[in-house]
Amino acid sequence: MISTNDIRRGFLDYFAAQGHQIVPSAPLVPQNDPTLMFVNAGMVPFKNVFTGLESRPYVTATSSQKCVRAGGKHNDLDNVGYTARHHTFFEMLGNFSFGDYFKERAIVLAWDLLTKQWGIPAERLTATVYHSDDEAHALWTKLLPGHRIIRIPTKDNFWAMGDSGPCGPCSEIFYDHGEHIAGGPPGSPDEDGDRFVEIWNLVFMQYEQEANEITGELPRKSIDTGMGLERVAAVLQGVHDNYDTDTFRALIAASQELTQTKAEGERQASHRVIADHLRSAGFLVADGVLPANEGRGYVLRRIMRRAMRHAHLLGAAEPLMARLVPSLVAEMGGAYPELVRAQPLIEATLHQEETRFRRTLDRGLKLLDEATAGLATGGTMAGETAFRLYDTFGFPYDLTEDALRAQGLAVDRAGFDAAMAEQKRAARAAWKGSGASASADLWFDIAEANGSTEFTGYANDTGTAEVAALVRDGARVEHATAGETVSVIVNQTPFYAESGGQTGDAGTISGDSGLQARVSDTSKQIGRIWVHHAQVQSGTIRVGDTVTLAIDTGRRAAIRANHSATHLLHEALRQRLGSHVAQKGSLVASDRLRFDFSQPVALRPADIAEIEMRVNGQVRGNGPVVTRLMTPDEAIAEGAMALFGEKYGDEVRVVSMGEDAPENGGGTYSLELCGGTHVGALGEIGLFTVIGEGAVASGVRRLEALTGEAARAWLSHRDAVLREAAAALRSTPDEVPARIAALLDERKRLERDLADAKRALATGGGAGAPAGPETIGNIAFVAQTLDGFDAKGLRGAVDEARQRIGSGVVGIVAVNDGRASVVVGVTPDLVGRWNAVDLLRRAVAALGGQGGGGRPDLAQGGGPDGDKATDALAAIRAALSAEPANV
Ligand code: ALA
Repeated sequence: MISTNDIRRGFLDYFAAQGHQIVPSAPLVPQNDPTLMFVNAGMVPFKNVFTGLESRPYVTATSSQKCVRAGGKHNDLDNVGYTARHHTFFEMLGNFSFGDYFKERAIVLAWDLLTKQWGIPAERLTATVYHSDDEAHALWTKLLPGHRIIRIPTKDNFWAMGDSGPCGPCSEIFYDHGEHIAGGPPGSPDEDGDRFVEIWNLVFMQYEQEANEITGELPRKSIDTGMGLERVAAVLQGVHDNYDTDTFRALIAASQELTQTKAEGERQASHRVIADHLRSAGFLVADGVLPANEGRGYVLRRIMRRAMRHAHLLGAAEPLMARLVPSLVAEMGGAYPELVRAQPLIEATLHQEETRFRRTLDRGLKLLDEATAGLATGGTMAGETAFRLYDTFGFPYDLTEDALRAQGLAVDRAGFDAAMAEQKRAARAAWKGSGASASADLWFDIAEANGSTEFTGYANDTGTAEVAALVRDGARVEHATAGETVSVIVNQTPFYAESGGQTGDAGTISGDSGLQARVSDTSKQIGRIWVHHAQVQSGTIRVGDTVTLAIDTGRRAAIRANHSATHLLHEALRQRLGSHVAQKGSLVASDRLRFDFSQPVALRPADIAEIEMRVNGQVRGNGPVVTRLMTPDEAIAEGAMALFGEKYGDEVRVVSMGEDAPENGGGTYSLELCGGTHVGALGEIGLFTVIGEGAVASGVRRLEALTGEAARAWLSHRDAVLREAAAALRSTPDEVPARIAALLDERKRLERDLADAKRALATGGGAGAPAGPETIGNIAFVAQTLDGFDAKGLRGAVDEARQRIGSGVVGIVAVNDGRASVVVGVTPDLVGRWNAVDLLRRAVAALGGQGGGGRPDLAQGGGPDGDKATDALAAIRAALSAEPANV
């Protein structure tokens, strides 16, 4: 039996041998269509190639495209489990021609693959064509008898991507599963039976339409085909039901084993739901979608919880879904390596969601039972009950519907919607009551009309979007033109809006017809509306336009590195300084990071060196960065660092990075609650260096640091400065500290020598001209004025002179910056005859000063009149001449 994996491979190889480029599946989140929730056909990633907006280096291609049809226009969620062919996730095999071959070769290629390569008997096949497509009809007559070529007049054979976009007539190939199954050929009254199954749709892409009206021809006639892999696998494996193919059998075998139940009777639907939903949930998580309460994340949550209720129905005692992931990876990881890469994240996400949901599931089901106890088959349950189940017990609406389906009951949707509207009204009133900005109403209006902005920037740097609203000067406007600044609100955006210390993204918004706008910053309103602060440079932006948003990727890469480095820094600080270190504030910008934390004393250079070493060790370790969703309590129980006093929602992102050294017990290095954007692997940080440390408040220190190129440039600048210093010292960088120490020593020594020399000069000693004593009466008197002599040295100078003369009086005036200091000394034998304090007072008075003092043998003072030094000494001299004066 040929396996599904071999069928996929065989299909791609067949078209590759026919000159087609094998193109890997695009992610499930559309990259080029803002109106689409998930990629739901193989041609979606090629849409712009068909319309000529984009060109690729090939003209024919083939792919196996992951598709999800749940939420949005195509929604098969409700039917999954109860039919043979409905899936929320499926793979579409396709071959594409962009202006290369057209109808004839498309038909021949398909025919040869089915009948020659795969050996499907020709008599099992039937083709349909659009009723007016004589050309396709004529081509088929070469291959099939006329009665098995059916003209279909309806839209069934005119395929369009959506209301707008490429479209054209199509030709579908049906497989006849045989008479034992009820149903008639396409176009017959009993065509809805299961006997004839469409396996391949060949679309002859030719036109472009807008709002369901054909507006023109495509630049080139093209081909888009789509074959459901699961359906063709059923055909080639000789089974009628997609859930009986190898992939599904393996997944169902795993759920049977883990629940110890058989996929039979009323349990069959549960096993099928689980197998199908496991695939869509696994692939969505691998493509960057995580459960949320709105948008794509909510579709994922609905899928997950629906499966989880069925796991509960099967009596699973433990969370089941995560344990099925290894089987999914075993079946499909070979063809889709993203599944292997994301396996830990998929398991953690499913486990977390199921653990959490199981807490309310029992009570919710009990409420459901009570609410429906009195209802007969065909009855309707109150919408308010469905809302309570949604609001209090986390039951998505369709889960409630699914649960009632087995009993033949319905839900009052209008009542549910009314209860939801009332809750929204109350939320708005509460927000405004909390004193929020006056413009809150504006943002609530926008949110209610368009939903919250979906942030796609964890996984993407660019994306298309629909302009939901434009705001200027606090009021909504319909358009903005070149030169105008305007706040742009779109349905989905890769721009991060400033929060949690991380700066908002900058970038561009562009569109057809020449729109170019620059976004300088992005902020958030009422917690869920992203506001792009834009200046239109050319063209016009209008509400309803489809635009392309592109963040400044270099800037964001730097922000990512800085943000991840902040987490590493936080942990390194705790390891070095102690667990009292708690984040008090942070700024993550593109050019630097700043981190404030509780810490009573300044960090020493050795602390900083070790912190840098630890962070850079993690960077070189290049460990992965993994984000999971948890409740705040669970996150904190796991040891995640959270900000005290911060209000977290009921669900938080937990970012873990790196691996701790064995001596610290190993395990995850850093675990933090964080909604920011991070590097994929720590090596992207490149380099980390601290450039500043200081205090911000008592008990709070601040570190500033750089990463990547900024860190390298900073260190390189430092190095250049050091080299310059070395050159000036005629030394090498390594010897600079020793040279400086030597210079400082030398300088100290020189200063000392200089002081000695001046003192010697002052007191007549040493090699300088000695100031010899004069004799007044029989008293020796040394009188001297010293310009620029440090007053601190005066006492020493006076002492020295006293010793030298043995007996006498010394008066030295030092003049510095116009001020005079004076010291008078009297040798011990003359104390009693002459009082130094008295002599000093006379000198001080001559210098225009007051006071001064000391002991009878040594006194010091000073005055502002430095030019009166001679008068001061004369005043002393006069006193000595007028002996005996002061006894
Ligand atoms: N785009 C076509 C389809 O989805 C092939 O059916």
